[in-house]
Amino acid sequence: MLDLGTGTGRLLELFAPLYARAVGVDMSRDMLAVARANLDRAGLSRVQVRQGDIFLLPTQAGHFDFVTLHQVLHYLDDPAAAIREAARALAPGGRLLIADFAPHELEFLREEHNHLRLGFSHAQLAEWLQAAGLEVDRMIDLKPETASGAQKLTVTLCMARDPRMLIAGSEQLSGSQS
Ligand SMILES: C[S@@+](CC[C@H](N)C(=O)[O-])C[C@H]1O[C@@H](n2cnc3c(N)ncnc32)[C@H](O)[C@@H]1O
Repeated sequence: MLDLGTGTGRLLELFAPLYARAVGVDMSRDMLAVARANLDRAGLSRVQVRQGDIFLLPTQAGHFDFVTLHQVLHYLDDPAAAIREAARALAPGGRLLIADFAPHELEFLREEHNHLRLGFSHAQLAEWLQAAGLEVDRMIDLKPETASGAQKLTVTLCMARDPRMLIAGSEQLSGSQS
């Protein structure tokens, strides 16, 4: 698993039962210190966090079965480029999960919380994912139960897939034929 913009490492903790090894990337040294402390406290030794930029990942391309962008895209000036880079990190058949806000009009989030984008439509996400060579598996909206202030926000979960087929052992096969 590769968690982009890992922050406190919360997603790495939540998904720990599902992965063999994981990497978290964040540009902020302060957040990485918090993530390391949280992951140590949770006893997770199969995970490491690294400083790096989502737009130029410090990880191997084509390597990860599962990549996540959880509440990160709305901070970025070029979300499409981040999705392209996330797609590049996926192994054949791997999956990318994006969780972010649906379109909204809470302008104060720009000034008070540095949001650069006020949410993303399904169509916009699908366009960027397809341009990055991925297929959209599923999009669902989680609507708020209460409706005041920032709690009015709907969160969209989007799962996309790398369509390439992995043909296991193909190199050995062609080697044994020659
Ligand atoms: C709102 S936090 C989300 C953290 C985590 N994904 C979560 O949901 O708990 C956004 C994170 O993205 C990181 N971030 C923003 N731009 C980044 C970039 N270009 N490269 C790497 N990390 C970035 C920030 O440092 C911050 O930790």
